[in-house]
Order: sequence, then structure tokens, then C-alpha cells
Amino acid sequence: MRNRLTHRAFTVMIALAAVFVATACAKPTMASQFGKKGVTFGVAVQAADVLDPKCVAVVKENFNLIVPENTMKWRNLRPTKGFWNWSDMDAMVKFAAANGMAMKGHTFVWHQQNAPYVDGLKTRDEAIALLQEQITTVMTRYKGKIREYDVANEVLNEDGTMRDTVWLRTIGDDYLDIAFKAARAADPDAKLYLNDYNNEYEGSAKGDGFYELAKALKQRNVPIDGVGFQLHVMGTAPLNADNLRSNVRRFAELGLLASFTEVDVRIPVPVTPEMEATQTEVYRQLLDIALTEPNARSFIVWGYTDKRSWIPAAFPGFGSAHLFDRAEKSKPAYEALKEMILKAPKPASPGQN
Ligand code: XIL
Repeated sequence: MRNRLTHRAFTVMIALAAVFVATACAKPTMASQFGKKGVTFGVAVQAADVLDPKCVAVVKENFNLIVPENTMKWRNLRPTKGFWNWSDMDAMVKFAAANGMAMKGHTFVWHQQNAPYVDGLKTRDEAIALLQEQITTVMTRYKGKIREYDVANEVLNEDGTMRDTVWLRTIGDDYLDIAFKAARAADPDAKLYLNDYNNEYEGSAKGDGFYELAKALKQRNVPIDGVGFQLHVMGTAPLNADNLRSNVRRFAELGLLASFTEVDVRIPVPVTPEMEATQTEVYRQLLDIALTEPNARSFIVWGYTDKRSWIPAAFPGFGSAHLFDRAEKSKPAYEALKEMILKAPKPASPGQN
């Protein structure tokens, strides 16, 4: 009896030692480092990506959040009013859960990639009913599984006024109030974001319009938790990091999180070493803000590889915007971010995002 006990204790000790050695010697991955520092490092993925072993390996090694690049958009998720294409979304949600990653939803209110019956909406009542149904159905299905949502995307014009969309035309000025309230009611624990592009600078018409819009939503108690800066930036124009930082801070004063939601840094192709160095610096400056501003601890890249990139089609003449090249080899920008996260101090309090 005694012998057997001693033998068992010995086996347990050996097993514990093995776990200890494995943990101590494990190469710190990008994902584990971001996790340790309490910072979200996310990536937009396509539905097929989570089935591709090569892609799965890179995503698991590096990121702690995924966001569907197109899968949750109205046209894809619900191409006709009566047909919900749940399978791709379900697969992504399952993938995130199985790999200990957070999941983000993108997006409900938008003026692009809508289904024809959305673009064809005519009356306020039918538009409200459809929008509420969409939000409630998705967020109830994924309650507790999707951590945060872009409830609304790109609602502003470049001059900071409200964009003329089907939602503004049919519902009117309170369509954001309606959308955010439906989202909060469907899943009170999900973080709700208002997302846009060219909104990152204080003093620009759109940047200030975005701030005023978020402030007005807060003032009338619309349930919004944060704002998203897409940050599809051009490596050819220097980043005004000081401005972006002080912009992030004015949202903190409103009690709002600020997430970098769709980061990529496009440069002219063919790429030169100089341009690549500038790109690295832009990525570095962006992560520096995310690591040091307490309300901005969320950095999401819009795809990780040039192999599957929306940039060449959207911005002819530009490319090479992501952290990995077409052969899925990491670029200097990736190595710079890796070095930064390794050196970053642990947060005094857990990250807010
Ligand atoms: C883009 C996708 O990356 C492309 O694959 C698709 O063809 C068009 O949409 N802002 C957004 C994203 O909020 O949804 C867009 O994604 C890029 C710009």
C-alpha cells in the first residue's frame, strides 16, 4: 500500500516537473504575450481561413481575437429575408471558443454589402423592425460567445455630417439610438462600438464630427461602450501619433473605449526597403498608443497576409499592407511589434477591452 502511494506521488511529481519545464521553456508566442499584457491583438479572417491548417496555425500563434472580415455582413449572413446562413458564422464562433480566443462581430448598420431587401427598405416602421430583428437574432444566438460588436459602421461623410444611407433615409436621426438599444437589450454583456475610417484625428472635419456624434450619443444615454478607428492608413503619409493619442484621450474623458479596429498600412508596390521601414514605424507608433493609453488596449489587423488582402482591389498601386507577406513570412513590422509586446510592462490593472 505504502509503496503504491509513494509510487503514485513520484509519478505526480514527475508530471508536474514536466509541465513546469515545458511552460518555462515554451517560446513566448505573440498571442501569449499580448494575453499576458492584457492587450487585445485581433485579426479579420475569412470563413475558409478557419478550415485552412496553415492559416489556423498562424492565427493561433499570434492572435487572441478574430473578427469575420465579411461573414457577418448582411449580404452574406442573410442573403434573402427568410434565409440565414449560420454555418460560416457558427464555424468561426466555434473556432474562437475552441482556441481560447475572443470573437468580435462586424457589422449591423452599414451602407455596403447589404442584401437587396435592405437597400429596398421604404418605411420607418419596416426599417426599424428589420434592424431590430437582425441585431436581436444574431446577438441572442451568440450571447456570451461574441464579446464585442461594431453595431454601426461608417455612418459619417468626410465633412463630418451624417452619411445619406438607407437607415438615415427610412428611420431618420434616431437610427443609431435604436440600433444600440436593441444590441444592449439582446446581450447586456457585449461591448458595443461605433466604427469609422478617417476619424482618427482631432481637428479634422470627420474626426471632430465623429467625436461630437459619440458625445451626443453618450449624453442622451445611448448604450455605447467604445469607438473604433479603422486605421487603414497609407505608409506614404506620416502618422500624426501625437494627435491620435490626444484624440484617444478625449474619448476616454467621455468614458469610451477606443479600439484600433482594422489596421493595415498600405505602401506603393513594388516595395522599397525605405517604404517598408516607414511602414514598420507606423505599425510601431500605433501599437505604442494601444499599449500606453488605458482605454485603447485593442489592436486588430484587417487580415494578416498579403496573400489574401483587400488592399490591391480597393487601392490600385498599393499593397504589402499586412504583417506577413504573400509567402506568409513575417515582415519587419511584425518583428517590431513582437519586440514591443515582449518588452511591454504588465498592466497594473487588467485591460479594459
Ligand atoms: C472589406 C473586406 O476586407 C473585403 O474583403 C470586401 O470585399 C469589402 O469589405 N471597412 C470595413 C470593412 O469596415 O468591412 C471592409 O472590409 C474594409 C473597409
